[in-house]
Amino acid sequence: MTDKQQQAISALSWEERSFPPSPEFVAQANTGPSIYEEAEADWKGFWMKQALERVSWFKKPTQILDESNPPFFKWFADGELNISYNCLDRHLETGGDKVAFYWEGEPVGDERVITFRQLHEEVSRFANALLGLGVEKGDRVAIYLGMVPELPVAMLACARIGAIHSVVFGGFSADALAQRIQDQEAKVLITGDGAYRRGTVFPLKTNSDTALEACPSIENVVVVKRCNNEIAWTEGRDHWYHDLIAAASSENEPVAMNAEDMLYILYTSGTTARPKGVVHTTGGYLAGAVATHDLVFDIKPDDVYWCAADIGWVTGHTYIVYGPLANHTTGVMYEGTPDFPDKDRFWQIIEKYKVTKFYTAPTAIRSFMKWGDHYPKGRDLSSLKLLGSVGEPINPEAWMWYHAVIGNERCPIVDTWWQTETGCILITPLPGAVATKPGSATRPFPGVGADVVDDQGQPVPLGGGGYLVLTRPWPAMLRTLYKDPERFVSAYWSQVPGQYFVGDGCKRDTDGYYWLLGRVDDVMNVAGHRISTTEVESALVAHPKVAEAAVVGRTDEMTGQAIAAFVTLRAGVVGDEALIKELRGWVGEKISPIARPKSIVFTDDLPKTRSGKIMRRLLRDISEQRHLGDVTTLANADVVREITSLAQTSTKED
Ligand code: WT7
Repeated sequence: MTDKQQQAISALSWEERSFPPSPEFVAQANTGPSIYEEAEADWKGFWMKQALERVSWFKKPTQILDESNPPFFKWFADGELNISYNCLDRHLETGGDKVAFYWEGEPVGDERVITFRQLHEEVSRFANALLGLGVEKGDRVAIYLGMVPELPVAMLACARIGAIHSVVFGGFSADALAQRIQDQEAKVLITGDGAYRRGTVFPLKTNSDTALEACPSIENVVVVKRCNNEIAWTEGRDHWYHDLIAAASSENEPVAMNAEDMLYILYTSGTTARPKGVVHTTGGYLAGAVATHDLVFDIKPDDVYWCAADIGWVTGHTYIVYGPLANHTTGVMYEGTPDFPDKDRFWQIIEKYKVTKFYTAPTAIRSFMKWGDHYPKGRDLSSLKLLGSVGEPINPEAWMWYHAVIGNERCPIVDTWWQTETGCILITPLPGAVATKPGSATRPFPGVGADVVDDQGQPVPLGGGGYLVLTRPWPAMLRTLYKDPERFVSAYWSQVPGQYFVGDGCKRDTDGYYWLLGRVDDVMNVAGHRISTTEVESALVAHPKVAEAAVVGRTDEMTGQAIAAFVTLRAGVVGDEALIKELRGWVGEKISPIARPKSIVFTDDLPKTRSGKIMRRLLRDISEQRHLGDVTTLANADVVREITSLAQTSTKED
């Protein structure tokens, strides 16, 4: 990169540490480095091979990729299959008695062990029950539940009869639920009486009743009994799940779906108030899910695999339900929060079930760091073989902590980059083939085309920063936004001709490794330098006293924007003027004087979305003393009040 070439986003710091896979891991790994060359030689053929070898088709596809109407791509378009068949029926002969889910309820002692055969029977019954309620192929079914086994059952039952499911995260409000049901005009809602969350009962049915006042499309409501809390009942409309299951036949033939038939809609937030209904189809999605699940997590028949996400997010769809079940993998499913009844619950679950593969988010990892090492150290984590991370850039120091304290320096870490829209992991290490570097998602999955471009859409040479784009279609890609193809084109396909615009900043090092830099909307502009939030935050988190940090750009007369930092300290550390000075100097040294925060506010917590992402937009509003608007979609609305008053009294500037 020459000096004259202005980088779209500055790449300020570089990480030198590198962790090659151990010879023992390489020796047993599902794949090695040659898979990259194999896929590069014929990327369409590579995906076709995945689809033919890993998916059971009723009618095998002969077409790979239909590019006749970009960006509306089609994959395996003449194939026919059923996802529920792939997840259940096909395993019955070879291993119906294998455990599909170890389900752990939040109240200690609540547990269920569900085999593939039992899951198949329950899904078949519920599929028949849905048919009995008049649900037909192509109808939309909304699902609003906590993390109970009936949630995957409901998804698979929809898939079995060709209904389109739309899971709404079980912690969302009545308004959020109503908006999503209205958009898709769902016919049936599947919910529960309540959901356990941090020792309290979240009122699913009450919220559903409120939402349904504004949702005339819903004809029937199915209610799972979980918490025995008191609920209102609408005769004729409401049905107990257990009554329907008991009355239904256990025989159900899965319908043949076209590969391009819709499987689900999942809403994700966009830049406007109206959420985007991301549409995923059947054949390509499953091919992407099984191939990535197997190769990224190096799945073995005796694994006990735990993805600790919520099924309300895409991570749970692809890596709790569809990928693992189709791969005949035993999974753990946990209902509650990591701090109930105490802050070692996750480690207790790993010890109890002897979990081998564990997948969680950086926000959780930073919380574990803040709570202290004695929680994991008090449990036996020696069953673990591989660790995963997803959802945000993982700060190198959080990565190192995960590696040392949870993985005991033994387990490869897969930092997996993807989106609701991408359907499956796209940038990630393959654990037996790629040396990892703390904070880097390393390189595109075999067959995936990616690049980093500047403002003109031109590739940025290695060593520089810019915007991540995807240069080729991939099978699990979203097909459109529900009922809004124009927004699909404008949101993803209009920035760089012919390429999918991700919306994330990214830099590449001289080895070609990808380093995600956070959302493009969050990039700061300080005296003409475009600086990523991720780099400054990671520098702060690298300080031994810091647990978590968020930075934003706020208007500044001198420099256009100035960096405002919000910092959460490790347990027991007191934040004072001396520490502010120290941290500013630290960032200056670690990255560059231009990246030094102009102000630092210490806070007990940071505002986060319900899926754990830091809400920088809100911190910008606080920093600029703007009206905050609605904060009810936050996971922790209380913290906003605390930060607002701290930020107003703060005079911690140069
Ligand atoms: C956005 C997508 C995909 C499952 C969960 C999130 C960020 C995700 C990483 C990662 C850096 C990451 C990106 C992306 N992101 N994984 N490993 N490193 N950033 O799905 O809610 O659709 O969010 O999450 O910004 O665009 P999502």
